[in-house]
Amino acid sequence: MEVIRSIAELRAWRRQAGKVAFVPTMGNLHEGHLALVQEARRRADKVVVSIFVNRLQFGQGEDFDAYPRTFDADCAKLRDAGVDVLFFPLEQELYPRIRQDFNVEPPHIQNELCGAFRPGHFRGVATVVTKLFNIVQPDLACFGKKDYQQLHVIKAMVDDLNQPIEIVPVDTGRAEDGLALSSRNGYLSADERAEAPRLYGHLAVISERLMAGEQDYASLEAAARQDLEAHGWRVDYVEVRQADTLEIAHAGEKRLVVLAAARLGKTRLIDNVEVLR
Ligand code: PAJ
Repeated sequence: MEVIRSIAELRAWRRQAGKVAFVPTMGNLHEGHLALVQEARRRADKVVVSIFVNRLQFGQGEDFDAYPRTFDADCAKLRDAGVDVLFFPLEQELYPRIRQDFNVEPPHIQNELCGAFRPGHFRGVATVVTKLFNIVQPDLACFGKKDYQQLHVIKAMVDDLNQPIEIVPVDTGRAEDGLALSSRNGYLSADERAEAPRLYGHLAVISERLMAGEQDYASLEAAARQDLEAHGWRVDYVEVRQADTLEIAHAGEKRLVVLAAARLGKTRLIDNVEVLR
């Protein structure tokens, strides 16, 4: 595996590579990330993974500084997974003027769900992903359904801006107790880690009820919220939405997704379950 730190070198490598699949990450890699890498390997000749903790998508008071940076362990995992190139740029390589003057502005959905609690987050994601796409110029890129709203924003961006890249969604990797794998799980204390699967538990229950034909989304959402709050969570949202658009779901909708974000202590966890009937 080649580790490339400069844009010029990455471009030179790309010119002689065949079909390229790309997996952008912020590092601190776990099995969820590695599932994206496997999918990428199945679909292309060469796989590029990037590790870049993107300041632009972190708000004031969020965990940019504390975000786990575990380069050596990540490198070993990617090597074992058969990755061809790791793109690991310094911050000044991607943001040489420090500020980013041109940005990719997602539509109104950027202000809903997670966006309502993380202003500017999806602009930061769309902008860095576009920069990385322009640098790597992959044929396809893999994104996790774990970050369902992010996947939606990226698919819509590529579609609307005619970025010539196939977006491949990959299912959420989970621990045995159901907790979605996340770099932020490492922030949890032992007690919090034991409590954390409750979030997925509620999504699974809501999903079953929806499959059984329940149409009163608001009461499903409220029951989950109440139980989480009773167990010490601070709930940002639990919402049933349309799976394809993330717009508000109306009774009778066939393709749904239940999304949630909630905080345990200092750690904000997100998860979702698709309900496709
Ligand atoms: P990061 O949180 O490192 O995630 C990188 C990719 O891994 C994303 O596509 C994410 O959805 C996927 N992923 C994370 N946990 C997963 C899990 N449990 N199962 C399946 N896939 C999972 O998402 C980002 O980084 C950044 O926003 C980025 C796209 C790199 C832009 O900075």
